[in-house]
Amino acid sequence: MTGGPLVVLVGPMGCGKSTVGALLAERLGVSYRDTDADIVAAQGREISDIFVDEGEPYFRELERQAVAAAVAGHTGVLALGGGAVLDADTRALLAGLPVAYLSMDVEEAVRRVGLGAARPLLAVNPRRQWRELMEARRHLYTEVARVVVATDERTPEEVAQAVLDAL
Ligand code: S3P
Repeated sequence: MTGGPLVVLVGPMGCGKSTVGALLAERLGVSYRDTDADIVAAQGREISDIFVDEGEPYFRELERQAVAAAVAGHTGVLALGGGAVLDADTRALLAGLPVAYLSMDVEEAVRRVGLGAARPLLAVNPRRQWRELMEARRHLYTEVARVVVATDERTPEEVAQAVLDAL
Protein backbone atom coordinates (compact mmCIF):
# COMPACT_ATOMS: atom_id res chain seq x y z
CA MET A 1 0.00 0.00 0.00
CA THR A 2 1.38 3.41 -0.81
CA GLY A 3 0.21 6.46 1.03
CA GLY A 4 -1.80 4.64 3.71
CA PRO A 5 -0.88 4.25 7.37
CA LEU A 6 2.31 2.29 8.10
CA VAL A 7 0.69 0.55 11.06
CA VAL A 8 -2.92 0.56 12.30
CA LEU A 9 -3.61 -0.52 15.89
CA VAL A 10 -6.94 -1.97 16.94
CA GLY A 11 -8.06 -3.59 20.18
CA PRO A 12 -10.10 -2.96 23.31
CA MET A 13 -9.84 0.10 25.53
CA GLY A 14 -6.84 -0.14 27.78
CA CYS A 15 -4.90 -2.57 25.58
CA GLY A 16 -2.20 0.09 25.15
CA LYS A 17 -2.93 1.39 21.65
CA SER A 18 -1.90 4.96 22.48
CA THR A 19 1.27 4.07 24.41
CA VAL A 20 2.37 1.41 21.94
CA GLY A 21 1.37 3.60 19.00
CA ALA A 22 3.53 6.48 20.23
CA LEU A 23 6.47 4.11 20.78
CA LEU A 24 6.08 2.63 17.32
CA ALA A 25 5.90 6.05 15.73
CA GLU A 26 9.10 7.07 17.52
CA ARG A 27 10.90 3.89 16.45
CA LEU A 28 9.76 4.25 12.84
CA GLY A 29 10.41 8.01 12.74
CA VAL A 30 6.84 8.80 11.69
CA SER A 31 3.95 10.63 13.33
CA TYR A 32 1.27 9.13 15.55
CA ARG A 33 -2.43 9.73 15.13
CA ASP A 34 -5.40 8.59 17.15
CA THR A 35 -8.98 8.80 15.91
CA ASP A 36 -10.37 9.41 19.43
CA ALA A 37 -8.13 12.48 19.70
CA ASP A 38 -9.22 13.62 16.21
CA ILE A 39 -12.87 13.44 17.30
CA VAL A 40 -12.23 15.29 20.58
CA ALA A 41 -10.34 18.03 18.72
CA ALA A 42 -13.01 18.40 16.02
CA GLN A 43 -15.90 18.38 18.51
CA GLY A 44 -14.26 20.42 21.24
CA ARG A 45 -15.55 18.03 23.92
CA GLU A 46 -14.63 14.73 25.51
CA ILE A 47 -15.85 11.41 24.11
CA SER A 48 -17.72 10.63 27.33
CA ASP A 49 -19.61 13.91 26.88
CA ILE A 50 -20.47 13.06 23.26
CA PHE A 51 -21.86 9.70 24.46
CA VAL A 52 -23.94 11.37 27.18
CA ASP A 53 -25.12 14.35 25.11
CA GLU A 54 -25.76 12.67 21.74
CA GLY A 55 -25.82 8.90 22.30
CA GLU A 56 -23.64 6.11 21.00
CA PRO A 57 -24.97 5.95 17.37
CA TYR A 58 -24.04 9.60 16.87
CA PHE A 59 -20.55 8.94 18.21
CA ARG A 60 -20.16 5.88 15.94
CA GLU A 61 -20.96 7.99 12.89
CA LEU A 62 -18.36 10.57 13.90
CA GLU A 63 -15.94 7.70 14.43
CA ARG A 64 -16.66 6.15 11.02
CA GLN A 65 -15.88 9.49 9.36
CA ALA A 66 -12.79 10.08 11.50
CA VAL A 67 -11.37 6.64 10.65
CA ALA A 68 -12.03 7.11 6.92
CA ALA A 69 -10.29 10.51 6.98
CA ALA A 70 -7.32 9.19 8.95
CA VAL A 71 -6.86 6.08 6.79
CA ALA A 72 -6.91 8.26 3.68
CA GLY A 73 -4.74 11.04 5.04
CA HIS A 74 -2.19 9.60 7.47
CA THR A 75 1.00 7.79 6.56
CA GLY A 76 2.33 7.13 10.07
CA VAL A 77 1.03 5.04 12.95
CA LEU A 78 -2.72 5.14 13.49
CA ALA A 79 -4.66 3.94 16.54
CA LEU A 80 -8.43 3.44 16.33
CA GLY A 81 -10.95 3.65 19.18
CA GLY A 82 -11.87 0.28 20.67
CA GLY A 83 -15.29 0.17 19.01
CA ALA A 84 -14.28 1.36 15.53
CA VAL A 85 -14.38 -2.19 14.16
CA LEU A 86 -18.12 -2.44 14.92
CA ASP A 87 -18.73 -0.57 11.67
CA ALA A 88 -18.80 -2.72 8.52
CA ASP A 89 -17.57 0.14 6.28
CA THR A 90 -14.62 0.65 8.60
CA ARG A 91 -13.80 -3.07 8.51
CA ALA A 92 -13.91 -3.02 4.70
CA LEU A 93 -11.64 0.03 4.68
CA LEU A 94 -9.07 -1.80 6.81
CA ALA A 95 -8.84 -4.80 4.47
CA GLY A 96 -5.30 -5.15 3.17
CA LEU A 97 -3.79 -2.61 5.59
CA PRO A 98 -1.05 -3.51 8.12
CA VAL A 99 -3.42 -3.84 11.07
CA ALA A 100 -2.24 -5.18 14.44
CA TYR A 101 -4.79 -6.34 17.02
CA LEU A 102 -3.46 -5.78 20.54
CA SER A 103 -5.31 -8.47 22.46
CA MET A 104 -5.87 -8.54 26.21
CA ASP A 105 -7.77 -10.98 28.42
CA VAL A 106 -10.78 -9.85 30.43
CA GLU A 107 -9.17 -10.02 33.87
CA GLU A 108 -6.25 -7.98 32.62
CA ALA A 109 -8.72 -5.47 31.15
CA VAL A 110 -10.55 -5.10 34.47
CA ARG A 111 -7.21 -4.59 36.23
CA ARG A 112 -5.99 -1.99 33.74
CA VAL A 113 -9.15 -0.03 33.07
CA GLY A 114 -10.50 -0.55 36.59
CA LEU A 115 -14.02 0.57 37.28
CA GLY A 116 -14.16 2.53 34.08
CA ALA A 117 -15.52 5.81 35.45
CA ALA A 118 -14.19 7.66 32.42
CA ARG A 119 -15.24 4.90 30.01
CA PRO A 120 -18.91 5.27 29.14
CA LEU A 121 -19.31 1.62 28.13
CA LEU A 122 -18.19 0.23 31.49
CA ALA A 123 -20.13 2.30 33.98
CA VAL A 124 -22.44 -0.33 35.51
CA ASN A 125 -20.77 -3.73 35.90
CA PRO A 126 -17.27 -3.57 34.48
CA ARG A 127 -16.41 -7.27 34.65
CA ARG A 128 -19.65 -8.46 33.03
CA GLN A 129 -19.60 -5.62 30.51
CA TRP A 130 -16.01 -6.42 29.58
CA ARG A 131 -16.88 -10.06 29.01
CA GLU A 132 -19.84 -9.13 26.80
CA LEU A 133 -17.85 -6.51 24.94
CA MET A 134 -15.03 -8.93 24.18
CA GLU A 135 -17.41 -11.71 23.16
CA ALA A 136 -19.09 -9.33 20.71
CA ARG A 137 -15.88 -7.86 19.34
CA ARG A 138 -13.10 -10.42 19.45
CA HIS A 139 -13.97 -11.85 16.04
CA LEU A 140 -14.20 -8.35 14.53
CA TYR A 141 -10.69 -7.44 15.71
CA THR A 142 -9.43 -10.77 14.37
CA GLU A 143 -11.23 -10.24 11.06
CA VAL A 144 -9.47 -6.94 10.32
CA ALA A 145 -6.07 -7.89 11.76
CA ARG A 146 -3.04 -8.97 9.80
CA VAL A 147 -1.34 -9.87 13.08
CA VAL A 148 -2.53 -10.46 16.65
CA VAL A 149 -0.18 -9.46 19.47
CA ALA A 150 -1.04 -10.45 23.04
CA THR A 151 -0.40 -7.63 25.51
CA ASP A 152 -0.89 -9.57 28.76
CA GLU A 153 2.27 -9.58 30.89
CA ARG A 154 4.19 -7.56 28.33
CA THR A 155 5.52 -4.02 28.65
CA PRO A 156 4.53 -1.46 25.99
CA GLU A 157 8.12 -1.69 24.64
CA GLU A 158 7.80 -5.46 24.28
CA VAL A 159 4.43 -5.11 22.58
CA ALA A 160 5.83 -2.50 20.16
CA GLN A 161 8.73 -4.81 19.32
CA ALA A 162 6.35 -7.75 18.79
CA VAL A 163 4.26 -5.64 16.40
CA LEU A 164 7.35 -4.67 14.41
CA ASP A 165 8.52 -8.29 14.30
CA ALA A 166 5.12 -9.57 13.23
CA LEU A 167 4.12 -7.06 10.54
C1 S3P B 1 -14.76 2.82 22.92
C2 S3P B 1 -13.40 2.97 23.10
C3 S3P B 1 -12.79 4.28 23.36
C4 S3P B 1 -13.65 5.41 22.82
C5 S3P B 1 -15.05 5.28 23.29
C6 S3P B 1 -15.70 3.95 22.90
C7 S3P B 1 -15.29 1.46 22.67
O1 S3P B 1 -11.51 4.34 22.76
O2 S3P B 1 -13.61 5.44 21.41
O3 S3P B 1 -15.08 5.42 24.69
O4 S3P B 1 -16.42 1.33 22.16
O5 S3P B 1 -14.59 0.47 22.96
P1 S3P B 1 -10.16 3.66 23.35
O6 S3P B 1 -10.18 2.24 22.88
O7 S3P B 1 -9.07 4.43 22.70
O8 S3P B 1 -10.21 3.81 24.82
